[in-house]
Amino acid sequence: MVADEITQETNKLREEIETHNYRYYVLDDPQVPDAEYDRLMNRLKEIEGAHPELIVPSSPTQRVGAKPVDDFETVKHEIPMLSLDNAFGEQDMVDFEKRIKDRLKSDAELEFCCEPKLDGLAISLMYENGELVRGATRGDGAVGEDITLNARTISNVPLKLRASGWPQLVEVRGEVYMPKAGFEKLNKQQAEKGEKLFVNPRNAAAGALRQKDPSLTAKRPLQFCCYSLGLVQNGEMPDTQIEILNTFKSWGLKTNPDTQVVKGVDGCLDYYSQMEQKRNQLDYEIDGLVFKINSLALQQELGFVSRAPRWAIAHKFPAQEEMTILEKVEFQVGRTGAITPVARLKPVFVGGVTVSNATLHNSDEIARLGVMEGDTVVIRRAGDVIPQIVKVIEEKRPDDASEIKFPDACPVCDSAVERVEGEAVVRCTAGLFCEAQRKEGIKHFVSRKAMDIEGLGEKLIDVLVDQKLITKLSDLYKLEKDQLANLERMAEKSAQNVLDALEKSKQTTLPKFLYALGIREVGEATARNIANHFGSLTDIANATEEQLLQVDDVGPVASRHLVNFFSERHNRDEINELNALGIQWPTIEVKQDSELPLKDQTWVVTGKLETMGRDDAKARLQALGAKVAGSVSKKTTYLVAGPGAGSKLTKATELGIEVMDEQVFLDRLAQYEP
Ligand code: IVH
Repeated sequence: MVADEITQETNKLREEIETHNYRYYVLDDPQVPDAEYDRLMNRLKEIEGAHPELIVPSSPTQRVGAKPVDDFETVKHEIPMLSLDNAFGEQDMVDFEKRIKDRLKSDAELEFCCEPKLDGLAISLMYENGELVRGATRGDGAVGEDITLNARTISNVPLKLRASGWPQLVEVRGEVYMPKAGFEKLNKQQAEKGEKLFVNPRNAAAGALRQKDPSLTAKRPLQFCCYSLGLVQNGEMPDTQIEILNTFKSWGLKTNPDTQVVKGVDGCLDYYSQMEQKRNQLDYEIDGLVFKINSLALQQELGFVSRAPRWAIAHKFPAQEEMTILEKVEFQVGRTGAITPVARLKPVFVGGVTVSNATLHNSDEIARLGVMEGDTVVIRRAGDVIPQIVKVIEEKRPDDASEIKFPDACPVCDSAVERVEGEAVVRCTAGLFCEAQRKEGIKHFVSRKAMDIEGLGEKLIDVLVDQKLITKLSDLYKLEKDQLANLERMAEKSAQNVLDALEKSKQTTLPKFLYALGIREVGEATARNIANHFGSLTDIANATEEQLLQVDDVGPVASRHLVNFFSERHNRDEINELNALGIQWPTIEVKQDSELPLKDQTWVVTGKLETMGRDDAKARLQALGAKVAGSVSKKTTYLVAGPGAGSKLTKATELGIEVMDEQVFLDRLAQYEP
């Protein structure tokens, strides 16, 4: 190739790669599969390897590559990077609007630009003639640190702005953050390497951004989203916040898709309720919302007080992390005998609810945290997840703090405990002789996805087991009305309801019954696959480990547990007894793969599903013969889209692929599932 052609190809590759980056990171709508992107990138690297004279700092290959620095240089912010005042409720918001109107001496309706408040770190990016020349942390607002090399490694920070019309010098400000999925993956890797876990995505992002070695920053899944304009020289910018954001977006910078312009404080409060609902579905953490006067002229007129603007406010969500005292640790025994330490806390309001318990998982977790009874701890409750202890504040440890001792016998039945090598869990070895395991086993048996016995709540099961009215599953179906009616808080009518529900549950299905037995590692989807594969319980009970391994989704551990379960005499007797008491299900006609109803179909599942996890949905589709793919293409037959669905939904609509919500999906499954 002649030099000219090489230069041309290089420029074309760079342009293409940048367009793909823009579609992927800014528009959230990738055009090509990852493999194609990798191919372009590899070709560019190949050319630059052979012709180093063609390398320019803004080439997409040049994100990482710089050597570690000894210390960060300091950077003075020409325009200070301010912080925000907080509002904690409606009244604060009303006061905020009133202060503005008073100061402007006008009662005219105000327009606000509403944005999510990303929970990360503020940075400044300076672009000169469209090229990224400097990245800096906020620091104390007046002086920050030069983190240019690290900023360059963030995949959605453009090294070169798109389009044209940028001022000769323009400073873009925004937040660096770590998306939730990336954070979880990072912590999983840390745990596998036996290294310290990060407390939350924000801390992980802060640590990554301040790495002295940019190649380490590059390995962390950081993202950048911009939200304000800093210095501008030799050029024009629009005169409202929303138009500035749109301009940034047209230049290839990521802006928040949930940004909205509203009128007055009522509009702000509506936006708050909307986003409060949406918060847990976002794939990044936000700790509140930011409301800014949209007009830059009014912003100027309002000005600042000390370090916060009068024209903006952060309306915070209830904190997701709080400090409290770990009063004591108790040990609970689960259905499979697993002994779990539960932290009893001094009640504390966190993440919108009062929390008085948190899980400590297992003894490894206790050791990792180095926590003692009496310690002051940081509790985190994010979204719907179980509250966790994330950190111990050792400086606050009282003299009488006591070590947490893991029990060497079952705390409920006093039987021996065992810890299987390579597993973090300690288990009670007594099986159904342990009252706790018995109670949990019965609770599982009656639960909605199992035998679905309504009216037989957890409290009632505790009482029935405590009073020895039931010791095994089949005893449930031998309960008499008087026995139930005589219990505390029960009466004739409620007793009859329980009996009716028990009677109704006798007509069940094989997958539900198999799941209800509570065999370890046999969840709902696995039970369904096994049932469909074998068709009858006799065949399942007689199957060998090898035969069980033929079933989709069944691994060596589950197959061993299944064989062990059915080799126990008392388990077989109990199943016979349940059948004798009237529990029955229709036999399933075993289908060859070629007869499965969804064969030749390709499904994609996206967004959040209310009644099942995406893995469950996938297993159920596969059991019916469907292929389940990760991305939408022309080959997709159906897309199941829950709340929070994004680019996959857009793409499916564009391609004219049938989209169904969860309810339609469930109805569709019900047509085919036994
Ligand atoms: S505007 C003068 N907008 O919140 C305006 N800040 O508490 C200053 N933040 O340091 C910032 N999302 O790190 C603004 N949409 C957003 C934001 C945001 C997150 C952070 C930022 C700032 C802190 C102020």
